Amino acid sequence: MLSNLIRALFAPKSPAAPAESPADADVLAAKDLLNKNSFQLAIDALGPLLREQPNHAEALFIRGTAHLELQRHEEAMTDLGRAVALSPGEPRYLYNLAITHWALGDSEQTVALCKQAVRISDFGPAHLLLANIDLYGEDYFKVLARMHSYLRPRTYIEIGVFRGASLRLAGPDTLALGIDPEPLLKQPAGPNQFVFSETSDDFFANHDVIGKLGGQEVDLAFIDGMHRFEYALCDFINIERLSRPDSVILIHDCFPLDAQTAKRDRCTTFWSGDIWRLILLLRKYRPDLAVHTISTPPTGLGMIFNLDPASRILSDKLDAIVAEYLAVDYSVLDGRKRELLNAGPNDWDSITALLDSRPARS
Ligand SMILES: C[S@@+](CC[C@H](N)C(=O)[O-])C[C@H]1O[C@@H](n2cnc3c(N)ncnc32)[C@H](O)[C@@H]1O
Repeated sequence: MLSNLIRALFAPKSPAAPAESPADADVLAAKDLLNKNSFQLAIDALGPLLREQPNHAEALFIRGTAHLELQRHEEAMTDLGRAVALSPGEPRYLYNLAITHWALGDSEQTVALCKQAVRISDFGPAHLLLANIDLYGEDYFKVLARMHSYLRPRTYIEIGVFRGASLRLAGPDTLALGIDPEPLLKQPAGPNQFVFSETSDDFFANHDVIGKLGGQEVDLAFIDGMHRFEYALCDFINIERLSRPDSVILIHDCFPLDAQTAKRDRCTTFWSGDIWRLILLLRKYRPDLAVHTISTPPTGLGMIFNLDPASRILSDKLDAIVAEYLAVDYSVLDGRKRELLNAGPNDWDSITALLDSRPARS
């Protein structure tokens, strides 16, 4: 993970602008060497410049990053610490210094530096590192893949298909329906996978979904569409009606990182929206459900079972419940996020223990 995150900062987006000064030329050459994994050569290339201009922040940053890649943490700490002291408003410097602290096991400093970086700008890698400190274990995508292998669902519904990556996790024996008003499939869907280009509300209103599932109920569902809780709530209501008590409904983005990345209107690259509100309301209004949040990076995975397809509690009070939870401020989670979201361990043994506690198939 470490290496990927650092790399992401250097991936060239457009051809480099021509150097304006000899110092710029040295820095560009060193960046190029860094991108080619020639870390020692990058360090050597910056030697003359840093002897002449010891306070050249960008050169210190590049050299510190090369040291970090070579796991020379002390040297990395010195160079990156100086770069940050010289340019405290540069999130890349703060972030790579955070990575150095992380590599040395100092999570407190790592968190402090990442928070400083995201206060300056929308700096996705720092949000991601913070999320990987808050949560742990395999990411939601790997856990979803395990769910498919373990449950071997006959039927699967996915809300929010995007490029089809998660839909493709469904095995060849699973009849899978994917719903997305703007699917951007990278490859054609599999022979047993069907994509509907419409909103989930329209899909449930306009189709005989059980018919489309060959007369069977939903075994497994994954809600990953619009990042506002009232949409996910309607998806949940619609899917529960088509389920059995032992069916499993998974909901992405239930464990927000912070208030900024949990806003209803997206203002950060890393974004969960306010899906967390759905977990809170399900726990209050549907104590009959088993409502868990698996602590998967980057933003948690809700897992609901003990479903009751006959229940009308949520749909009967829909408007009142939405109004009630829109008024709940993010600060309610302060210091109680894990407790209120019922966030449990993210290891496969614990997850299968929960799955095995479901009611027997009726
Ligand atoms: C985060 S992406 C889904 C990613 C996908 N599940 C994956 O992991 O590969 C969210 C998708 O939800 C879709 N979406 C937005 N509003 C929706 C709605 N009302 N009903 C269904 N899908 C919706 C968007 O078009 C977008 O493609």
